Amino acid sequence: MATSIPLSQTILVAFLIVTSCIWVFPQVAVATSKHTGVTRHYKFNIRLKNVTRLCHTKSMVTVNGKFPGPRVVAREGDRIIVKVVNHAPNNISIHWHGIRQLQSGWADGPAYITQCPIQTGQSYVYNFTVVGQRGTLLWHAHFQWLRATVYGPLIIFPRHNASYPFAKPYKEVTIMLGEWFNADPEAIINQSLQTGTGPNVSEAYTFNGLPGPTYNCSAKDTYKLKVKPGKTYMLRLINTALNDELFFSIANHTLTVVEADAIYVKPFETNILVIAPGQTTNVLLKTNPNPPNASFFMLARPYFTGMGTFDNSTVAAILEYEAPSQDNSFRNRTLFKPSLPAINATNFVANFSSKFRSLANAQFPANVPQTVDKRFFFTVSLGANPCPKNQTCQGPNGTKFAAAVNNVSFALPSTALLQSYFFAKSKGVYTADFPQFPLHPFNYTGTPPNNTFVSNGTKALVIPFNTSVELVLQDTSILGAESHPLHLHGYNVYVVGQGFGNFDPKNDPKKFNLIDPVERNTVGVPSGGWVAIRFLADNPGVWFMHCHFDVHLSWGLRMAWIVLDGELPNQKLPPPPSDLPKC
Ligand code: C2O
Repeated sequence: MATSIPLSQTILVAFLIVTSCIWVFPQVAVATSKHTGVTRHYKFNIRLKNVTRLCHTKSMVTVNGKFPGPRVVAREGDRIIVKVVNHAPNNISIHWHGIRQLQSGWADGPAYITQCPIQTGQSYVYNFTVVGQRGTLLWHAHFQWLRATVYGPLIIFPRHNASYPFAKPYKEVTIMLGEWFNADPEAIINQSLQTGTGPNVSEAYTFNGLPGPTYNCSAKDTYKLKVKPGKTYMLRLINTALNDELFFSIANHTLTVVEADAIYVKPFETNILVIAPGQTTNVLLKTNPNPPNASFFMLARPYFTGMGTFDNSTVAAILEYEAPSQDNSFRNRTLFKPSLPAINATNFVANFSSKFRSLANAQFPANVPQTVDKRFFFTVSLGANPCPKNQTCQGPNGTKFAAAVNNVSFALPSTALLQSYFFAKSKGVYTADFPQFPLHPFNYTGTPPNNTFVSNGTKALVIPFNTSVELVLQDTSILGAESHPLHLHGYNVYVVGQGFGNFDPKNDPKKFNLIDPVERNTVGVPSGGWVAIRFLADNPGVWFMHCHFDVHLSWGLRMAWIVLDGELPNQKLPPPPSDLPKC
């Protein structure tokens, strides 16, 4: 035993040297034996920073003073460790959107679901491994509306010696489509929740944080993508907007979609994309072989079918070919603009989303559950809460706007669900009686019912480990049919069917695609329609599912799944890390 003391001391010293080096150089990678890749360390300092857009300066919450935030990069199989230190006055948590978090649910990030927020002056280390995913994802704040300014790309390269299932692009470029508010987004949502009305809309959309030439005082803040002729570029598109699905197009250029939500798809060509908040997609852009004497607008603007107000503006960025030196004719270039579908082009959106298919080959199989253990049917809808006494409310008919799943508007608890579940202290925090079907069925997409009130509660749906789940998400016409990008944490789901009107449990399942459905973490519920998804509940933990429009999320369009532990040791959720934030 005596010899073990100096040995462990030596190891400790070596460990300290190694780790201190890592914190100094934020992206040093160290090979370890626990997983197949390397470990990559990042440090996120949450701090306020003055940022100016549209000639309007505001102090806002950022990561490391950057807007948009820094890239997190890894290869499939790597471990990512991010130390988040909160120097801002706001409490915050960070979510690694789309990361499966296999048995690492404590690192998922949604506030009051898997952790309490990191308070001012506190820190938390997120520690997770990237398994079976490659492509583009994003990270963002997951508390209140902080993700308006706190977001960035999460890029997953294939393993060493693995390649893309398409020709290696000449260059890769990340394009984040975001939303800019002149006011403090926290103040906007707080006021909206107070008065019951819809929140003020954004002043601009942005390309990588830049509003560009279509807005006042912004020409100097224009995103320019400089390209060489005759090359293939891969654009990593991310919708980081708070409340808007966006159409995107580049004048005179066709794009080839090759990946969605960090899963490769069967390539298809399109001139126009539609991308919902939380969704990511990689596209290949082939530049013209001869440098044209022209520049090309890249435009984005919203798709919207609801009844409320929305930011109806269009954002522009520029695709520019590098001019051959000494060629003066490139000075006065023509500028081409793409045309985009109508704001409410629901058929275009349905048609576009039906083009996504899994590769479903030997190397990248589509493991769609072929049999189902549990079927669930959820309505996703807007609704209302009565106005409190002694207050006037500005929502529909003097009520307060709300939103719900199966008419339950989910109230955030005051302690994290995962903690209370894990330590068997659910009493007073949540109940396990989330309705598996609507309690009062109605003609969901017909004439809306007179009573639009939701019920309120913190309800979870508990399912055993390895349950094969089929879930139909049904939009309703209550306070207006609207599309809802539903995001499930901890899983990818297979989109086996979609349609307009009410789901028909007899005939629609006959048309389900169980061969090569797309696998996503954020799925659009069609406006006035339904979508059917399947997933295998093989990841124990508490998993948030919600609309990725922050306005609907704040109104309660959210719920939680509890996936129980399995029998085997590797089917259980380990205990929380010691620095898990306390409430
Ligand atoms: Cu991208 Cu729960 O969120």
